Parts: sequence; structure tokens; C-alpha cells
Amino acid sequence: MGNKNKLAKFAEIREFSNVFEHNEAPKGKWSSVFKNDNPIVLELACGKGEYTLGLAQLFSDKNFIGVDIKGNRIWRGAKTATDENIPNAAFLRCQIGRITDYFSHEEVSEIWITFADPQPRDGKAKKRLTHLNFIKKYIEISIKPLIINLKCDSTLLYEFTKEVIHENNFKTLVDVDDVYNWDERPEELNIQTFYEKMWLEEGKKIKYLRFSVG
Ligand SMILES: C[S@@+](CC[C@H](N)C(=O)[O-])C[C@H]1O[C@@H](n2cnc3c(N)ncnc32)[C@H](O)[C@@H]1O
Repeated sequence: MGNKNKLAKFAEIREFSNVFEHNEAPKGKWSSVFKNDNPIVLELACGKGEYTLGLAQLFSDKNFIGVDIKGNRIWRGAKTATDENIPNAAFLRCQIGRITDYFSHEEVSEIWITFADPQPRDGKAKKRLTHLNFIKKYIEISIKPLIINLKCDSTLLYEFTKEVIHENNFKTLVDVDDVYNWDERPEELNIQTFYEKMWLEEGKKIKYLRFSVG
């Protein structure tokens, strides 16, 4: 994608009513964005927002917010939400490490993390989105117990997250190391992201963890 195209998308998302940049996030007032009191679910590292949109279409009784720092990726999801009239999906462009700046205490009910960068170098473990430092931030903005869903291709991120769950006595609700070989796979696990499709083409197995914390 050329630079000009990116800049055009940055300009366009500023006009979208379903995209919030970090400095305009309605902290504590997200329900007013959706005009209802339905539970709020976040998709972190949403990229083009396939999960945010797919879940919003499956579960009309919940509101979904895709969170990513890359405006040109968020543009794709926000444009589709507008074109297809999906009222229970929105997007927030911000650093996930600052998520507590954008949501109030008990504002969130569930989190999805889809194909986040596994940060393979040992020294970078603190950047993994399931590191305890991040989970503590998620707990700060959530109703307890908070449900976290991790869908990924990375064995490293999957095993690392299992260790975090074990070390902190979090409760594993589902642990599947090959999603597409799981007969009881719920419908929401059939949603596929841009990165997931790439990894599937390379023959990678997709893992899924659902756990509760707090
Ligand atoms: C590998 S991509 C996955 C995107 C999408 N979930 C998918 O599966 O196609 C990871 C995404 O995480 C975003 N990201 C990584 N670290 C982030 C952070 N600290 N704050 C916000 N976004 C972040 C990147 O901008 C990127 O879009």
C-alpha cells in the first residue's frame, strides 16, 4: 500500500463516526456511543477488525470495539461496519498499554486477542498482550470475572499464556491446540482474520484459549 493511500485513510477515519482516536475516547461513556447498555467486548490488536465485525454480526446483544494502533488497518473494519450497517461495532486507535486511559472501571466484559505478535525474543516477553502486566490493566477496566479469549498460530504465545494462567491461578475454560480439528468448535471460531488466513495457508495449526481472571 502506498504512503498516499495510507494518508488518505488516516484523513478518512477522522470523519468516521465509529472510529475514536486515543484523545477522543469516551472513557466511561462507551454505552452512549452504542445507545444501549449491552456488554462491551474488546478485540485487542484487531488489525482490519475481522473479529470485531464477525462477532458483532453473530451477537447483536453485545457491543464490540476493535483496538489497534494502525489507523490504515482500522479503516478497513470501520468502512465495512459503515457500509454493512453494523451498529454494534466501533474502533479505537490507541496503544493497548494505555488501555486504562480509555475505559473506566468495570466498563468491559470480555476480551479477544487475535493473532497478536508473539514477540519471540525472551527480552520482549513483557510486550506480549497476555503478559501479566497487560492482564492487570485489562482487569482494571473490567467486570469480574473477566473472560479472555486468545486465538493464535504461535506455539510460543499459546504456551506462554498457559504459563501465565497457571502461575496466577486463572481458570482455563477452553484449551484447544488445533481449532479446525475440534468437533465442538463454536461458530465464532470460524471467523478468520487477515493474518489467520496467511498462517493457515502455511499449514499452521490454530490454537485457542478461553480463560477467566479476577
Ligand atoms: C499480527 S497483527 C494481527 C492483526 C489481526 N488481529 C489479524 O489477525 O489479522 C498485530 C496487530 O497488533 C497491533 N498492535 C501490536 N501491538 C500493539 C499495541 N501495543 N497497541 C495497539 N496495537 C498493537 C498492530 O498494529 C497489528 O495490527
